[in-house]
Amino acid sequence: MLLPARDVISHYSDPRIAEAFHADRYGGPVGALFLSQETRQFHALACRFPHPRIVVDLGAGTGKLADTIGEGARYVAMDRSAEMLRVLRARRTSTPLVAGDAHTLPFRSKSVDVLVASRLLMHLADWRTAVAETCRVARCAVIVDFPVSPSFAALEPGVWSLCRRDSHPRHRVFSVADMRRAFAAAGFLPVDSRRGFVLPYRLHRFVGSPRFSRAIESVATRLGLAHLIGSPAFVAFVPTSAAGDGGVT
Ligand SMILES: C[S@@+](CC[C@H](N)C(=O)[O-])C[C@H]1O[C@@H](n2cnc3c(N)ncnc32)[C@H](O)[C@@H]1O
Repeated sequence: MLLPARDVISHYSDPRIAEAFHADRYGGPVGALFLSQETRQFHALACRFPHPRIVVDLGAGTGKLADTIGEGARYVAMDRSAEMLRVLRARRTSTPLVAGDAHTLPFRSKSVDVLVASRLLMHLADWRTAVAETCRVARCAVIVDFPVSPSFAALEPGVWSLCRRDSHPRHRVFSVADMRRAFAAAGFLPVDSRRGFVLPYRLHRFVGSPRFSRAIESVATRLGLAHLIGSPAFVAFVPTSAAGDGGVT
């Protein structure tokens, strides 16, 4: 399913959406849990690539990864939405910002050590082109997350589109195999991966109890379910030449 790019771009270009984004997504105790889970997974994957000089966060939004990924490196935030960048600037005055489109990255080939993109590919009109662009620009690694099927979260866009009437952009769900193929076509292989929650975020939000969320997700992890049906998937890809025999997932 191809999404009209304008949808997502006009959504995040709305000043009210941009202003409210961080609190909507990561506010409150359950939102804080999502934030810590997402940043922890990116951090764990990024630790495989110590001492990067330049880290670029594509579709950075309000810069949730800046503190965990940017540590010790020059962290650069790139986004298509000037409004999201304006909000990021207000939160983090010294972060270098780049306005740009993930489909045609405004960076020279192999000029960035690590590229990260959280909750971006799911919204793009042509995600394969964006993947190829990340691999053109990245020298050491590309770390992405994406809603993955099979998972309970994969049912969400369909269910939600039946009942939702507002302008929130729809998103795409991926298979790990599709993502691997897109990166392989650009000469990159997965070297490490992790999974997010087994139950959909919306259910966690509905219950509204971090204690419940931690408990149920911990049981699911112990039962081995997170590995099978946790979503999103968080995956680190490296150039084939650097993967050695460590290609996994
Ligand atoms: C769901 S938000 C995620 C923000 C942030 N990465 C996070 O996880 O909190 C998606 C972000 O991608 C940006 N975006 C959408 N299409 C884009 C494109 N073609 N190029 C660059 N950024 C884009 C939006 O402006 C928005 O800031």
